[in-house]
Amino acid sequence: MSEFTPRYLADYQVSAFTISTIDLTFELDDTATKVTSVMSVKRQGSGEEPLVLDGEHLTLLSVKIDQCLLSASDYYLSATGLEIPVRADEFQLTIVTEINPQDNTALEGLFKSGDAFCTQCEAEGFRRITYYLDRPDVMAVFTSKVIADKIKYPYLLSNGNKIASGELDNGKHFVQWHDPFPKPCYLFALVAGDFDLLQDSYLTSENREVALEIFVDKGNLAKAEHAMASLKNAMAWDEETFSLAYDLDIYMIVAVDFFNMGAMENKGLNVFNSKYVLADTESATDVDYYNIEAVIAHEYFHNWTGNRVTCRDWFQLSLKEGLTVFRDQQFSGDMNSKTVSRIQNVRVLRSQQFAEDAGPMAHPIRPEKVMEMNNFYTLTVYEKGSEVIRMIHTLLGAEGFAKGMALYFERFDGMAVTCDDFVNAMADASKVDLTQFKRWYSQSGTPHLKVSESFDPEANLYHLTISQHNQAGELSSPQSCLHIPVKMELIDADSGIGQQQLLELTAPEQTWTFEHYQAKPVVALLEDFSAPVKVDFEQTDLALEVLMLAASDGFCRWDAGQKLLSRYLHKLVLEPGYALPASLITIFSKILQKDSDPAFTAEQLTLPAFGEVVDQIHQVDPLALVNALKTLKGFLAKGLQEPLSACYHNCAEKTALSHQQAIGNRALKNICLSYLAVLPGADTLVAAQLSSAANMTDTLAALNASAYNNLPAFDSQMSAFESKWHDTPLVVDKWFTINASLNSDDIFERLAALLKHPLFSIKNPNRARALIGAFVSANPQYFHCQSGRGYQFLAEQIKRLNEINPQVASRLITPLIQYKEYDLSRQQLMLEQLKVLRALPQLSKDLLEKLDAALN
Ligand code: PHE
Ligand code: ZN
Repeated sequence: MSEFTPRYLADYQVSAFTISTIDLTFELDDTATKVTSVMSVKRQGSGEEPLVLDGEHLTLLSVKIDQCLLSASDYYLSATGLEIPVRADEFQLTIVTEINPQDNTALEGLFKSGDAFCTQCEAEGFRRITYYLDRPDVMAVFTSKVIADKIKYPYLLSNGNKIASGELDNGKHFVQWHDPFPKPCYLFALVAGDFDLLQDSYLTSENREVALEIFVDKGNLAKAEHAMASLKNAMAWDEETFSLAYDLDIYMIVAVDFFNMGAMENKGLNVFNSKYVLADTESATDVDYYNIEAVIAHEYFHNWTGNRVTCRDWFQLSLKEGLTVFRDQQFSGDMNSKTVSRIQNVRVLRSQQFAEDAGPMAHPIRPEKVMEMNNFYTLTVYEKGSEVIRMIHTLLGAEGFAKGMALYFERFDGMAVTCDDFVNAMADASKVDLTQFKRWYSQSGTPHLKVSESFDPEANLYHLTISQHNQAGELSSPQSCLHIPVKMELIDADSGIGQQQLLELTAPEQTWTFEHYQAKPVVALLEDFSAPVKVDFEQTDLALEVLMLAASDGFCRWDAGQKLLSRYLHKLVLEPGYALPASLITIFSKILQKDSDPAFTAEQLTLPAFGEVVDQIHQVDPLALVNALKTLKGFLAKGLQEPLSACYHNCAEKTALSHQQAIGNRALKNICLSYLAVLPGADTLVAAQLSSAANMTDTLAALNASAYNNLPAFDSQMSAFESKWHDTPLVVDKWFTINASLNSDDIFERLAALLKHPLFSIKNPNRARALIGAFVSANPQYFHCQSGRGYQFLAEQIKRLNEINPQVASRLITPLIQYKEYDLSRQQLMLEQLKVLRALPQLSKDLLEKLDAALN
């Protein structure tokens, strides 16, 4: 079947036709929405190619070229499109289609989220609305008229500026919108519904008064304040950092409960998963607040990096996503603790992106082969893509980078371009040669650095040798080796004084020599995580302890502690009875008592995540790792009980803190709680926190402690929580998540009951992820249980989702296709489930692509 063949970057061809304007009319109806599209089409180039439009799940009502109505014999209609053998070079094309938003559970194209209509067109959803050249390099000026019932849908929204509105017969009304900026159809949006509206305004650096509007479900107005504040901060930040100001008179955000992803940057009309808009302290955690700020900023930043300059084709996705993630990370670092933000980025990379890079779906940040584009909204394209931009920033410096951005917009504003275009602008503006650097765009896999050092006490010389290796561990060749910025510091062991430097590794192996050292210095490598690589470097425990306390770079101080903890986790995995050294207690009690930023101390006390350690141990037995984590946690809890308890109570008593301080304080208190809760007396402590908690952060920390330790009061605590929050969807999601992460042998009976719970709906992606996704990622003890029941549970849910929402199904399958990370018996069990899924009739393209990659 043609729809199931992959596409290749190398096959890119300019479109045979362009569309300069499109005039859309939507007559909204739950099951039969009529879409009329009037387009100005022009042939590009001299060929006589037919016009081939994309279209899926559409009912075609009529096609007209200029004033001539076509009959069915004038075109070819298939399940994937409409082919018209047209002769003219320039014509007006009118197409009328009918679609069914109500039955659209895939949530691509036009669908219903609760009572509202909304659209999602990236990557290729517009073809589910009408027949079109659904590719990002076809850019048109959109005008959209929306017609719907006035009572049910008082707000009718689309991109750009409102140009007309009025009453119609039968209780209907209409609004017409015009977006002056030519755009690809993936940035088109329409929303219709009844909302509460939070209004504000922003005066840009160019003196444009912008109306800011956030639309939320009725009753949620107060919960949009943080999103609004974040939006204004993001607007100001982009003006200050990159001199980029907003370009329309209105910026709208709509929060919906049914959404496959986080949010979408449609021009002038962002559509958001409500999870990234709604918050108040009672119902949202500090992490929720942080994420809302980040996602609001991300979508806002897309207005320049994505919308004003867009992608030539979908292989270039990282052009907009890697760059925009980098921009939102920089923003979050400026608005919060830079170091703690950076640590969070690295955790995501190490626990998830590295696994993707080592798995069957590994791809370069600019993929070369794609079957289902939705499968490429990945940690690699986004997070590693951002790391690649960050390396350019490091190599060019902030100023050189800003010049590069300016040149990029000077050259490409209003165009659809490639990753190479971006890198060339960076290189030309800064005069830094990025030729070798470009290899980052075409290599997949995580590079390894092998590091060795030697000290010559006679000559007072310190030598540092770094070699680079590919994913398989082979030394890179001169033709394949990467340009890797390695920020480092040499710390004088006696004085503690450090010397910082940027090394540029450009060869398979390089040695640097440092003079005038009386004694061997301690090296802090990869400051600020200056490259997305793994480092093999056997530093002693003592050296790591020096770094934990003395490295200038906060990331390095944290990383040294993580390395130390991972080292002992490895030993415990290999030998469960391994006697952990008292030195661990000594160093971590120093950390606890050191007067650092509490948010940072909390990070230092956090054990490496399950996924991070999985990635470090070849074919790990997952249960051995679960037990190792428990043992290490128990060991530290016991050894540090007094300082942990003192710190816990000290944090709990602190008042009159600034907003930021209060967040750090809670983080530290709750990491202490997570240790103390594994010790006798946990019940009382957790119950006390639960009853005194004044915010969702503290409540969830207590409930998580209860779930992890399967405390006797768990069920009663959870039912109290449920009665309080059953009307608040985002909190109900949290309730399902905690239930799914309970450490209890009857978890599978509980999961079965939860699937039947009246508040569960597999059609709601947030809800499905809250239960199924959380079990898979937050309950490794039972997901990986020896019987294989965990894998079977996941496969059964994926099977259901395959028919309901292929995108959600395809994201949930990740841990199964990464089976090679685990021991052979787990591999067998996972493979069994993969084969069951592969044999399903009606397998979606999304799952098929991943299953074939995994099983071949
Ligand atoms: N472009 C969106 C973002 O990164 C993500 C997205 C992709 C949303 C596809 C929906 C569908 O901001
Ligand atoms: Zn994005």
